[in-house]
Amino acid sequence: MNIHTIILAAGKGTRMNTNLPKVMQPLGGQTLISHVIQTAKESSENITVIVGHQKNILKTHIANIDPNIKTADQDDQLGTAHAVKMASHLIKDDEKILILYGDVPLISSKTIEGLMNSEHECTLLTMQLNDPTGYGRVITNGQNLALKIIEQKDASDDELKIEEVFTGILLIDGSLLRPALEEIKNQNSANEYYLTDLVEILSGKGVKIKCIHANPAEVLGANNKHELHELELILRKMSAKKLLEQGITLIDKTRVDVRGKVVAGKDCSIDVNVILEGDVTLGNNVTIKSNVVLQDVLIGDNSIIESFSHLSSASVGSNCNIGPYARIREGTEIGDNAKIGNFVETKKTKLGDGAKANHLAYLGDANIGDKTNVGAGTITCNYDGINKHKTSIGEDSFIGTNSSLVAPVNIGKGAYVGAGSVITKDVPDNALAVGRGKQVIKEDWAKNKK
Ligand code: UD1
Ligand code: CA
Repeated sequence: MNIHTIILAAGKGTRMNTNLPKVMQPLGGQTLISHVIQTAKESSENITVIVGHQKNILKTHIANIDPNIKTADQDDQLGTAHAVKMASHLIKDDEKILILYGDVPLISSKTIEGLMNSEHECTLLTMQLNDPTGYGRVITNGQNLALKIIEQKDASDDELKIEEVFTGILLIDGSLLRPALEEIKNQNSANEYYLTDLVEILSGKGVKIKCIHANPAEVLGANNKHELHELELILRKMSAKKLLEQGITLIDKTRVDVRGKVVAGKDCSIDVNVILEGDVTLGNNVTIKSNVVLQDVLIGDNSIIESFSHLSSASVGSNCNIGPYARIREGTEIGDNAKIGNFVETKKTKLGDGAKANHLAYLGDANIGDKTNVGAGTITCNYDGINKHKTSIGEDSFIGTNSSLVAPVNIGKGAYVGAGSVITKDVPDNALAVGRGKQVIKEDWAKNKK
């Protein structure tokens, strides 16, 4: 049967105390809704998100995640059943409807698959909590079939003690869901149309509603910043587990943040306070020291990224040494056996094999040949106030300290630039260029002054 996923995301999220739509709260470097959509896409192509509060901001965000995702408007947020009803014109009798909640972001595709394998017309994902506060309590017949869900606000003292709760996630035949939605009333303490009332309505008609128990770590919701923070801790733990399973050595699994996808070879190690964002690929035996940020980077075998370095949209070859305190910006391509030292910034720059920039430099829009040595304080003056220009330095060259290379400029192979030079003209291969004021000595000048 075809699966149609409906994600509820119209709520205001008053308890989150935020100006953003609740489902756009950040978790592991993405929004809550982005997590839910990414997971939903693994099991269904047909996805509708119910939007309401700040719907335009949310719709733009959803279109950025995937333009194929449909949205349905819920202009007044009258409850979760009302939200689903906003998509009822899109629900077909011959499809199964998977309901996901936009504020339950860590659900795994494996758990969703388990739900899909259920042979019942309606299956709920539930969890067992020692402290079930805030969740809808599931009343069962003792054999895993649900009879009713009672919301916290409407529950009696005895019902409040029930530890099996609804996760918000369920799978139901479209043919059952549509008519049942029409029967849900809002006579409860919140005056809302609760989707959870579906259970009593259907079980009353003899429908067997199966409960599948989920691991709470995957299905906790985030209604406020405390819960959101709990999810961040859970996500960090899950991501660290994946890194360890790949064979990466972690010095402290509670102090590494993965905000994207990491692929690594063998014998890599990651020290504390490292953030890995976007697509990060590490070769074999890569060492990432403490307090490093890697964002969409590729790092070759045996390279070491020293502490406090920040690398973004860049590639580093093998056997390199980067940092400490290096800033490797977008479009940087570093060859093999190269070295970038402290306080060196690179952008849109190629550094050849064995090239070095050991201290304090800005290398932007530059092409630096193999084995060239860039001295401390070298600046490629790539910007004239309007346009950017290129600097090219051939292989085996030597740029003396504190040189300004005013682009566009070409420095040949095997060339030397004297320390403190301002280079405005091209330097031929093997030449020495010196462009600085001549030193003047005035003997006994200081003595005569006194
Ligand atoms: C809901 C469930 C509760 C369950 C819990 C799991 C209901 C009535 N209760 O409670 O049984 O244990 O989730 O996390 O369903 N939303 C809309 N439109 C609305 C109202 C809500 O789209 O009119 C969306 C929200 O944006 C949110 C989701 O539905 O993503 C859940 O709403 P929320 O108010 O957070 O429900 P809970 O009180 O957490
Ligand atoms: Ca919620």
